[in-house]
Amino acid sequence: QFGKKTLDLLFGVATKLRKIAKSREGQDFLGNLLAHKSAMLYFTQPSTRTYLSFVRACQFLGMNYAEVRDPSISSSFKGESDIDGVRTFSNYFDLIIMRHAEGGFAERVAYLMNETGRPIPVISAGAGPDEHPTQALLDLYTLNRSFGERAGGINGIHIAFMGDVARGRTVRSLAKLLTRYENIHMSFVSPPELKIKEDLRKWLDRRGAKFQEIEDVNTIIKDIDAIYVTRIQDEYKDESIVEEEVNYEPYCLTMEQVNLMKPTAIVMHPLPRRDELDVRIDQDPRAAYWKQERNGMWIRAALVAYVFNADSLINHYYTENYS
Ligand code: CP
Repeated sequence: QFGKKTLDLLFGVATKLRKIAKSREGQDFLGNLLAHKSAMLYFTQPSTRTYLSFVRACQFLGMNYAEVRDPSISSSFKGESDIDGVRTFSNYFDLIIMRHAEGGFAERVAYLMNETGRPIPVISAGAGPDEHPTQALLDLYTLNRSFGERAGGINGIHIAFMGDVARGRTVRSLAKLLTRYENIHMSFVSPPELKIKEDLRKWLDRRGAKFQEIEDVNTIIKDIDAIYVTRIQDEYKDESIVEEEVNYEPYCLTMEQVNLMKPTAIVMHPLPRRDELDVRIDQDPRAAYWKQERNGMWIRAALVAYVFNADSLINHYYTENYS
């Protein structure tokens, strides 16, 4: 949905927000920005960081918010459809932020909002094994903060996606967003059973993306600029995958492998993790995953501000007070 110009705008607002929020005066300014707006956080799948970072984003911007995280204590328990439930939310709130098990559900809701004549914005906070667009935004923001200063920025980087790239929605969304940039080299490193799905392969092919699919990360470990490790997504059952037969151990990043990476390279992970990241990597300056988590709060705040056209007010305040 977003071109490079909008991405740059969001990254700029996120960086300004994090600076403005450091001072009491800045927090007061932000806390009044969207005090007249409200958000519904509708999360029907588990979440820690996406949910909490959206909560903090709303709090920074002074928004009221409510949540449904357990459909069994809403009227869905009485048989109300998800669509009717969301339509109800739209009568009370100005924004719906939602995580749902069904791919494309947020888009369906956004369409419905238009049909009902109350076209409130809808932000997908993750959709089954399909997409996780705001994770892709924070991932890209993290890449931008790591490589933005070098000539060409993130253009030309080589990024390896390692692990369950078949069911990893964060991988799918980031791979798609990276096609907005030039000369990105993507390597999808996975067990044979967990290769990227044909639809993503076609999507990347259509856009002329430079990508390869390999099974051994050691063949590229010294050359890559970023490695994006993912856990096995066995909560999504797929008849073509026999979980017990998948050997995931070669797709768990070790400290020894990190030691072979470029000093400027970064290690990314959307989190939560299981065993696929050696905890010793946490101490290495190349570990970027905790930064990713924190960046998520700022980029989501920037996105919410953008949705309500408050980005220009943030830019103006920043210019007046920090330039
Ligand atoms: N990365 C991510 O989406 O984490 P949560 O499931 O904890 O929100």
